[in-house]
Amino acid sequence: MNYNRLGNTGLLVSDLCLGAMTFGDTERGATKTESINMIHRYLDAGGNHIDTANVYTGGRSEEYVGAAIQDRRESVVLATKVRVKTGAGVNEEGLSRHHIMQAVESSLRRLQTDYIDLYYMHVWDLLTPIEESLRAMEDLVRSGKVRYIGVSNFKAWQVMKAVATSELKNLVRPVAAQYQYSLVKRDIEYEFSDLCESQGIGLIPWGPLGGGFLSGKYKRGAQPESGRISTSSDDVEEAWHRRNTERNWRIVDAVGHIAVERGASYPQVALAWLKQQPAVCSVIMGVRTMAQLDDNLGAAELTLSAEELKRLDTVSTLPELYPYHMVAQYARRLNS
Ligand SMILES: NC(=O)c1ccc[n+]([C@@H]2O[C@H](COP(=O)([O-])OP(=O)(O)OC[C@H]3O[C@@H](n4cnc5c(N)ncnc54)[C@H](OP(=O)(O)O)[C@@H]3O)[C@@H](O)[C@H]2O)c1
Repeated sequence: MNYNRLGNTGLLVSDLCLGAMTFGDTERGATKTESINMIHRYLDAGGNHIDTANVYTGGRSEEYVGAAIQDRRESVVLATKVRVKTGAGVNEEGLSRHHIMQAVESSLRRLQTDYIDLYYMHVWDLLTPIEESLRAMEDLVRSGKVRYIGVSNFKAWQVMKAVATSELKNLVRPVAAQYQYSLVKRDIEYEFSDLCESQGIGLIPWGPLGGGFLSGKYKRGAQPESGRISTSSDDVEEAWHRRNTERNWRIVDAVGHIAVERGASYPQVALAWLKQQPAVCSVIMGVRTMAQLDDNLGAAELTLSAEELKRLDTVSTLPELYPYHMVAQYARRLNS
């Protein structure tokens, strides 16, 4: 396992982060024992970065993570999130000082710890001025309950507003940013790869297998009957009708060819590509079973060659972003 700096901090996080979003999902996720076993397997393999959120599986995800890391808390970089609705009250959501202060106490209790290493603002809050949220975060850092903060799913102007407010008011500054990012979801590159690099923010992709689409288990023309991909809902990013495009199948084919050539699995190739992208410091794997975890952990040892990266890049670059990439390259040439 390799370790990278979290943005411009001195904190090191492993290339592969363990996502806990499905731990405790009573329909399709892992039970408490399975979750704890997977967390231990991940830590034993050298991983040190675990990602959860207060809203995952109604709080069970945080509880299971907390139970699993009791005897090795100091070696874990523990990330969780605040923002999404947690109860019926009008103030039980958002990034207000009120909700942040309430939510952090609940997370600390469920996680059985007295500090969170990385506390994310899960989604932008339209109602709360960012200065109010950052002041609450600053107080949490000063009190020792939080060590670093991050943003998640913010638009580029929202990230920059948070950074500028932190700098102007001398408040804690975001050092990590989570976005959905994979070979089949590359639109974030245009705004966020160089934003993160220029601002010393670690880019932390979620959804690295496109919800499982890149795992190689789905075939052209065969809509699965169950699982995340099977849905036809417009609200789900990884819904079959979105994934089932010729461009995406060509990406899966390219991943498969490299997997065969390298004696690796599809998920290992897709994860390896992502961990080698600019500004990426830790890729959040989502796993439902121990077999999936063992498979994906193999990506830690896989480094793709320049030629392999180029093949994957060629097949997956979004055509609609070409003009922007050309302008960006032109700007780089002018400045060199
Ligand atoms: N910040 C945010 O807003 C946000 C949003 C979402 C997620 N996240 C974080 O990112 C993490 C990962 O996201 P994600 O679950 O969307 O990731 P993903 O890698 O795109 O999808 C994971 C799913 O792919 C399938 N899979 C994984 N490994 C596999 C393997 N080796 N072989 C076959 N199938 C495999 C499993 O689903 P099936 O077995 O059901 O096919 C698994 O649940 C989450 O746990 C969470 O921590 C953050």
